[in-house]
Amino acid sequence: MEHILETERLYLRAFIIEDAPLLIDLNSDPEVTRYTGDGPVANIKEAERILKEIIFPQYPNKIGRWAVHLKSNEEFIGWCGIKFIQEDNEYDLGYRFYKKHWGKGYATESANAVMNYAKNNLQLKEIIGRAAIENTASIHVLKKMGMTYLRNETCGHDPAEVYIWKKN
Ligand SMILES: CC(C)(COP(=O)(O)OP(=O)(O)OC[C@H]1O[C@@H](n2cnc3c(N)ncnc32)[C@H](O)[C@@H]1OP(=O)(O)O)[C@@H](O)C(=O)NCCC(=O)NCCS
Repeated sequence: MEHILETERLYLRAFIIEDAPLLIDLNSDPEVTRYTGDGPVANIKEAERILKEIIFPQYPNKIGRWAVHLKSNEEFIGWCGIKFIQEDNEYDLGYRFYKKHWGKGYATESANAVMNYAKNNLQLKEIIGRAAIENTASIHVLKKMGMTYLRNETCGHDPAEVYIWKKN
């Protein structure tokens, strides 16, 4: 399968319909979805709906949430990527990984690759990221992407902050 992006330790690829079980598995940990505004994915049918209606429609624009794998053993560890949110007219950076892979710099590494790709290949002028205020790791990653505070918002039921990167 084509690697959309590669970093030192990771590669990113487009999700395919056969990945539906991976979405169920990743979201099955309440700690993973604690601040994400969604929750468990009920079944394969629902996971396929998410892929078809939410994830795949982003791909023709060369953006979207991409599956992230370890290069060392091909393991699927989560996802990262930019989604265009029509209602807000915003490009939104997001990431989500299995808990056992937190704290190893994978969000930073994959998000860096995605941001560089978006700046250089897509010529995006603004990219935002939102995170619950209590989700300090996520906010830390957004800041490491060179983003600055833009506004407060809610993310699911949690108070959240929105950060922005703007082209000079
Ligand atoms: C948020 C998430 C993607 C971070 O992934 P990660 O791979 O652990 O992140 P990284 O290791 O690249 O970086 C995390 C940074 O936050 C820091 N950090 C982690 N926990 C922290 C905490 N509780 N307080 C302050 N900083 C924290 C780390 O030290 C690291 O910074 P550093 O590189 O300067 O040391 C991961 O926790 C996750 O998947 N969470 C569940 C899904 C989610 O919440 N997604 C974001 C929704 S907005």
